[in-house]
Amino acid sequence: MKVLVVGSGGREHILCWKLAQSQGVEKVFCAPGNAGIAADAECVDIAVTDLNSLADFAEKNQIGLTMVGPEVPLCEGIVDVFKQRKLRIFGPDKQAAQLEGSKIFAKDFMRKYNIPTAGSEVFTEAAPAIAYVRKVFADGAKGLVVKADGLAAGKGVIVAATAEEAIQGVNQCFDGEFGAAGKRVLMEECLFGEEASIFALTDGTTIIPMASAQDHKRIGDGDSGPNTGGMGAYSPAPVVDDKVMAIFKNEILGNFLKGLQAEGLYYRGVVFVGLMVTEQGPKVLEFNVRFGDPETQAVLLRLENNLAEVLGKVADAKLNEVELRWTPGATVCVVMASGGYPGNYNKGFEISGFAEAEAAGTKVFHAGTAFKNGKIVNVGGRVLGVTAKGATIREAIDTVYKGVKKISWQDAYFRSDIGHRALKRGL
Ligand SMILES: Nc1ncnc2c1ncn2[C@@H]1O[C@H](COP(=O)(O)OP(=O)(O)O)[C@@H](O)[C@H]1O
Ligand SMILES: [Mg+2]
Repeated sequence: MKVLVVGSGGREHILCWKLAQSQGVEKVFCAPGNAGIAADAECVDIAVTDLNSLADFAEKNQIGLTMVGPEVPLCEGIVDVFKQRKLRIFGPDKQAAQLEGSKIFAKDFMRKYNIPTAGSEVFTEAAPAIAYVRKVFADGAKGLVVKADGLAAGKGVIVAATAEEAIQGVNQCFDGEFGAAGKRVLMEECLFGEEASIFALTDGTTIIPMASAQDHKRIGDGDSGPNTGGMGAYSPAPVVDDKVMAIFKNEILGNFLKGLQAEGLYYRGVVFVGLMVTEQGPKVLEFNVRFGDPETQAVLLRLENNLAEVLGKVADAKLNEVELRWTPGATVCVVMASGGYPGNYNKGFEISGFAEAEAAGTKVFHAGTAFKNGKIVNVGGRVLGVTAKGATIREAIDTVYKGVKKISWQDAYFRSDIGHRALKRGL
């Protein structure tokens, strides 16, 4: 079988790498891919949002399975286009993808199907939203979360500690900073606790949790500085203990599946559940309708199954035939970024040390890389995801940083404390 992966980041690199190793896969294509993906797949120059060209490519090249990395093509209906043309694809259709594409749609769904989540209100105009902010803080709230309804590339959520910050967030939304995504605003009760991410596979009939993970969103050590796409991840996340996992399976996944069925939503893909583990138990912060980056690098490195077979069973609605197997121990992924990210940064610097990093026991997944005169250079904010396994998180962390230290380019930046929460738990 030939497979097509849509996307160009670290998540897509591990997908291509694992698919290339899957028995039964003769060839992997990636649209558009990157310099590292080119080692595992043939990169084809088609944009992730050019849905018809992607379907044409799949048809012409007899692609047996298409796997979509990012949310934008899913929210634009890539699954609908492929389904209509009888092409096998992994993912939710456009309507179901609103579980990520509209935070208000997701919140209504959670409320309707008793999925634990923060309380919230919806606003479509600034004045009543601001009045609400003042009331909530006057009543003694310790925080309020302002969320633009639509896709905002991770920038549409403002966690406000004061009324002023919340009002600023409201104004950003209604002043059009997030475009159409900010026309409607969700204001959420602020939850306190530790965050975790858990992926689950579903075909609409069966739902299976994958291993848990934890991301590190802030740019700086000790979780300081501005938010990023994610600076590192590890799996499993010890905050997801047996008790949290049991609630996750029963109240969150169980009700999620009931909701899909009751609403008649077509969902044959992965759901990424962002959780806040509070004193009252886990609550859902958000759903994403695809794998997360960099959690995927940490989680899939532990997956022992034939990935193509697993994804194919999901696409064929035969997930009940799958049993996931995980390598014991832990994995850690450290993201190496261009200096200056998430602000402005310089591109085009030659990256060295790949072979040495892999000799140190790591696997290096590429995100923002490209070839320039035969050399691999940085072209994006997040550039590499150096990933390693270990018998314990401590061991995985030690190995991963040995690899990270072998890699260099001008102004390269990485966090040096990935996994710190797990270490604090004495693991
Ligand atoms: N209700 C909430 N209480 C506290 N923090 C929140 C809440 N909702 C979101 N956050 C914080 O904001 C981050 C981004 O919110 P999320 O809903 O995941 O949106 P997105 O990933 O689309 O930006 C979360 O990872 C979490 O740190
Ligand atoms: Mg999120």
